[in-house]
Amino acid sequence: MYKYNDFDESFVRERVAQFRGQVARRIDGSLTEDEFKPLRLMNGLYLQLHAYMLRVAVPYGTLNSAQMDMLAHLAQTYDKGYGHFTTRQNIQYNWPELGDVPDMLSNLADVGMHAIQTSGNTIRNVTADHFAGAAADEIADPRPVAELLRQWSTDHPEFQFMPRKFKIAITGSPNDRAVTKAHDIGLRMVLRDGAAGYEVIVGGGLGRTPMIGKVITDFLPQADLLPYVEAIVSVWNRLGRRDNKYKSRIKITVHEHGIDEIRRLVDARFAVIRPTFSGVDQEMLAEIEAQFAAPAFKIADTKGYEAVRLTNPAFRSWTDTNLTQHRADGYAIVSISIKKHGATPGDATADQMRVMADLARTYGHDELRISHEQNVILPHVHKSDLPKLYAALRSADLATANIGLASDIIACPGMDYCALATARSIPIAQEIATRFDELKIEHDIGALKIKISGCINACGHHHVGHIGILGLDRAGVENYQITLGGDHTETAAVGERAGPGFSAAEIVPAIERLVLGYMDLRQASDETFLEAYRRLGVAPFKAILYPQEKANAA
Ligand code: HEM
Ligand code: SF4
Repeated sequence: MYKYNDFDESFVRERVAQFRGQVARRIDGSLTEDEFKPLRLMNGLYLQLHAYMLRVAVPYGTLNSAQMDMLAHLAQTYDKGYGHFTTRQNIQYNWPELGDVPDMLSNLADVGMHAIQTSGNTIRNVTADHFAGAAADEIADPRPVAELLRQWSTDHPEFQFMPRKFKIAITGSPNDRAVTKAHDIGLRMVLRDGAAGYEVIVGGGLGRTPMIGKVITDFLPQADLLPYVEAIVSVWNRLGRRDNKYKSRIKITVHEHGIDEIRRLVDARFAVIRPTFSGVDQEMLAEIEAQFAAPAFKIADTKGYEAVRLTNPAFRSWTDTNLTQHRADGYAIVSISIKKHGATPGDATADQMRVMADLARTYGHDELRISHEQNVILPHVHKSDLPKLYAALRSADLATANIGLASDIIACPGMDYCALATARSIPIAQEIATRFDELKIEHDIGALKIKISGCINACGHHHVGHIGILGLDRAGVENYQITLGGDHTETAAVGERAGPGFSAAEIVPAIERLVLGYMDLRQASDETFLEAYRRLGVAPFKAILYPQEKANAA
């Protein structure tokens, strides 16, 4: 894990001190809210429906136990006892008092964290595969490169006032868990003749105009990565539309100019700046890599674990859904669901955060991750420790066995918190999860991604959900539109609109109908919803959603 050096430390401290002064001037009235706005946005502070909202970066989703404990402390001391983990691997606090925010930032600085560039038209928190450095299917850990990108982009003088925000995601595995194709830049590590490099994807994004990114180069040597990414961002910084906020993202630039023209411009820019990279970046990368060395994995017997699996069905069910194969013998990656049926997706209480921090300390080599699917991961747990870990998770209400299933729903804050929302997201997610729990068919349904956003900005990734739900406002009434067949992985696709939207009262029954209908349509119990959709196309699913229309047409 990356550790701050003296420079990083004093840089963050200075920012906190600066912001403390700015907040004091806002409170005594010498700054108006309008004057204060750009200053607070430089420090991750938004003004939402009911209160300020502080967004804290968790770089590439990685944190240690002390950092998680601090997030718990902030939730308890300055918020209502909980925090909201987001699809950008960040945490948001929805209820801080303005006067407390400098103290919150100072607390964060104590553990090497901050909120810089979690808002504004800058390069945002670089996100990565949440199983990085642990997954059995990985070529190499992508986080050192993510950290290099973070250092390069933080306060980069050229990239503070870009046409719009800019998001970079990176994966070291061929199985894309970082949604690289729906980011401004997606980086996918590939091997060529034994050497690691990157496939570079540009111009993906969700929001109002969802697009799957296009490959700008299929193999970029690792040593060229920083200058090449810099070339892409500077081409867009110059070319991107500043006249229209809705056309400002790089996806529109790529769409309007074409990928071939963008490639030509990037290559030209790269040719100019590549020679200015003297190799210092590679020296830095080597230093960063050393900090991401794998922990000292232990060797222990796993017979006890197997025995408990055979005798305890609840434990077995949890291991079936919440574990992923680790690269080290005897180890597992544990996904902790913070999607208990009926709870707010992504919310964890201060107590739960502390439990997870303790468990990481005791059983998990002091490491945790936040996933873009709004869960918490312990990347390195030896199987012999799993029965004890499971028992502790159960007592903290954290042992729901639903990772990847129908109730593991991504939901943005929607109208419960967000000033931009046109509908509620959280209650819909809660009702759907509760319904599938009542029916006891989640495990039968199998892998299913349901994703919900409360407006077209698509913070809940609904476009890339197998079933996406978009909350809209129709003449003051909440209305929910369904999209089908979205996919966030290496086979990414934007979902197709199924038809007219549903009212708040109709949407949960519609989803239930859809899922039960899929179970009738599937060829075998292991054909997933997405596979069935790809085989059959949209028509039978539309017929299930709109039986009346079918009857009328007949
Ligand atoms: C409540 C405060 C929030 C506000 C005001 C907000 C605002 C926005 C806006 C305006 C966009 C559209 C940007 C564009 O396309 O240029 C957007 C996109 C997005 N936001 Fe949020 N958001 C909020 C919370 C969240 C949360 C909680 C998450 C994660 C759960 C999130 C993750 C995202 C993602 C993934 C996108 C996708 C669009 C893209 O960049 O391709 N945001 N947000
Ligand atoms: S999708 Fe819309 S409602 Fe949901 S958090 Fe984003 S901006 Fe707010």
